[in-house]
Amino acid sequence: MSEPSAGEPTKPPLKGLVLSGGAGTRLRPITHTSAKQLVPVANTPVLFYGLRAMVEAGVTDIGIIVGDTRDEVMAAVGDGSQLGARVTFIHQEQPLGLAHAVLTAADFLGDAPFVMYLGDNLLQGGITELVHEFRHGDADASILLQRVADPSSYGIAELEDGRVVRLVEKPKEPKSDLALVGVYLFTHSIIDASRSISPSGRGELEITDAIQHLIDRGRRVDPHVVTGWWKDTGRIGDMLEANRLILDVMPHRIDGDVGEGCVIEGRVAIEKGARLVRSSVRGPAIIGAGALIEDAYVGPYTAVSDGVVVRRAEVEHSIILSGSRIEDLPARVESSLIGRDVVVERTDAQPRALRFMVGDSSIIGLL
Ligand code: TTP
Repeated sequence: MSEPSAGEPTKPPLKGLVLSGGAGTRLRPITHTSAKQLVPVANTPVLFYGLRAMVEAGVTDIGIIVGDTRDEVMAAVGDGSQLGARVTFIHQEQPLGLAHAVLTAADFLGDAPFVMYLGDNLLQGGITELVHEFRHGDADASILLQRVADPSSYGIAELEDGRVVRLVEKPKEPKSDLALVGVYLFTHSIIDASRSISPSGRGELEITDAIQHLIDRGRRVDPHVVTGWWKDTGRIGDMLEANRLILDVMPHRIDGDVGEGCVIEGRVAIEKGARLVRSSVRGPAIIGAGALIEDAYVGPYTAVSDGVVVRRAEVEHSIILSGSRIEDLPARVESSLIGRDVVVERTDAQPRALRFMVGDSSIIGLL
């Protein structure tokens, strides 16, 4: 059924649209102060994985939807040349839905086909083949799907004869276990479809409604079931899992300074300017530039960002963002996401008490 993939493509080159606006309510308090798409996975902002996947697939003319956190996203991405892309930032006043983001980008997209990537999603294996297939085929849209164990928590696609016939948001009685992955390929017909739909119950212009609109008008929407892993990093558990998956395949390299008596086990990346003093690091783990690990233990699946200090403490299966300090702890820190410039320390100050300065929506687990 798939179209011939040899010969001339039937579509012009694709543009890219990366969605990096939104509210990020599920990752508060980290997202009170910064964009969720910039939270690092294995010390690289989530957003960059999608951008790199696009560039690898030859998609270099990329629009990035930005919202309230636009200054931070723009500062991190720059003009895109560090990634080999040419980036146009498109401001979305309010996060009114994925189809609203498409409409906001209508001028940038023109009548080009495009690949849309949710900026907080990670997809193993890239999109090169998908982009190639889409360019050479006749589909008006191609949606990525993955089998999930709990379909009622996702947007689900129902198929008939190898085509998508229905999309249902979080079905109570799912007829399929194929969940929508946060990567889509569209011709410009999706722009008209997005103009034709109304906001959903939650007040958003839903991309699923726009795609359904295409289907209902006889347009061809192809399914593509992905077999590698896919992660939506919207929640802390997903973020830690994505961190695990990426650290598992990261190359081993030691560019930092490993002091005498330190023990390094397994695959680790120690960046230039990082210092290990009387410490153990058991990989897979990454230690960012300028970090100091002293009389400490960093265990598997931990990403320590630039300039972090871990002293007389143990950390495992966690992400620690830049500038934070973890010191003199009586127990191991585990399965944690610690924001920027955070201090977690034990002090001898009297009276002996727990002292916090904690942002909204923080979660603290004590022994
Ligand atoms: P979501 O995870 O669906 O929404 P959100 O970012 O508002 O997060 P939360 O549910 O935790 O509040 O968004 C998926 C991606 O698309 C994410 O990278 C943000 C982006 N997005 C936009 O750029 N514009 C929008 O209007 C919406 C809804 C999302």
